[in-house]
Amino acid sequence: MNRIFSGVQPTGNLHLGNYLGAIRNWVALQRDYDCVFCIVDLHALTLPQRRDELRANTREVAAAYIAAGIDPDRCIIFNQAAVSGHSELAWLLGCITPLGWLNRMTQFKEKAGRHRDNAGLGLYAYPVLMAADILLYKATHVPVGEDQKQHLELARDIAGAFNRQYETEFFPLPEPQILGEATRVMSLRDGRVKMSKSDPSEYSRINMTDDADTIALKVRKAKTDPDPLPHEVKGLENRPEAANLVSIYAALAETSREAVLAEFGGKMFSIFKPALSDLAVARLGPIGQEMSHLLKDRGLIDGILHKGSERANEIARHHMAELHDIVGILRP
Ligand code: TYM
Repeated sequence: MNRIFSGVQPTGNLHLGNYLGAIRNWVALQRDYDCVFCIVDLHALTLPQRRDELRANTREVAAAYIAAGIDPDRCIIFNQAAVSGHSELAWLLGCITPLGWLNRMTQFKEKAGRHRDNAGLGLYAYPVLMAADILLYKATHVPVGEDQKQHLELARDIAGAFNRQYETEFFPLPEPQILGEATRVMSLRDGRVKMSKSDPSEYSRINMTDDADTIALKVRKAKTDPDPLPHEVKGLENRPEAANLVSIYAALAETSREAVLAEFGGKMFSIFKPALSDLAVARLGPIGQEMSHLLKDRGLIDGILHKGSERANEIARHHMAELHDIVGILRP
């Protein structure tokens, strides 16, 4: 059976981009794939985290998965550090990954900024750990937002390099699944930059836990331009904020941008924004409420993660044993 692996970092501020670019798509895919959904705490540690926040954020991502509709009985939900195979395989893969491949990673360049020499080794090796996440389960498909495309190409290259080096076909080459109308949700304050957890402005993003009033306020304050919406998608060119809001609407309504413009083309933002805000509240409101409900029951969340890590470990241990044989590691 085809297997899906994907993950979210527990770094707080889960937002509409995480939902529309990733989590929402997983909900639909769980029917047709064997699914492993991870909370990638080791990846979060590539930048400084406070321990209490890391723990709380890990539970929050788990709650978001479940509240969004991922069934923990059908899918494996767990936190990465609970399965030691991730770090172990990352080492094996790191040994065959040329530095030149890592030097091309744009996300490292963005996150390390101008002080590259001060960036941690973990941040540099981030994409190797990500390849290990996927390959540890021999996942065939990886549903993510567009910003992860380069990392996935690297994961495929690493899988291919390993298979060639050891003359095996052990790893499938994982396929990215970049789905829906909002594969790259942009900031509500600037349509040229990605909506992100680390943007200092709360008004740049809609969080999955925002209440109705907050969502309405953020949509109302979202940057726009003075023109009415165009009748055709072509008319969104060079109008990044308008393009972003139309894509968000289309994704939330599970329709196309064409259909949204057929309804709102020629109308002003004063008409479109309240409609968008109502739609966002209708879609996100129940998820946010369910998240806070779930988060009141730590035992429940921890139990789901514990069970998930046992199931994940079972697959991981089996694959690691095979990998030890392939690589030539003695298991006395
Ligand atoms: P992270 O935590 O940054 O993001 C989680 C998921 O949300 C998507 N996403 C977006 N999609 C659309 N618009 C946006 N503005 C937006 N921002 C984030 C991301 O593409 C991602 O799918 N490296 C990954 C975590 C990871 C992973 C993996 C993913 C670690 N190992 C293995 C897949 C497979 C990341 O940073 O996600």
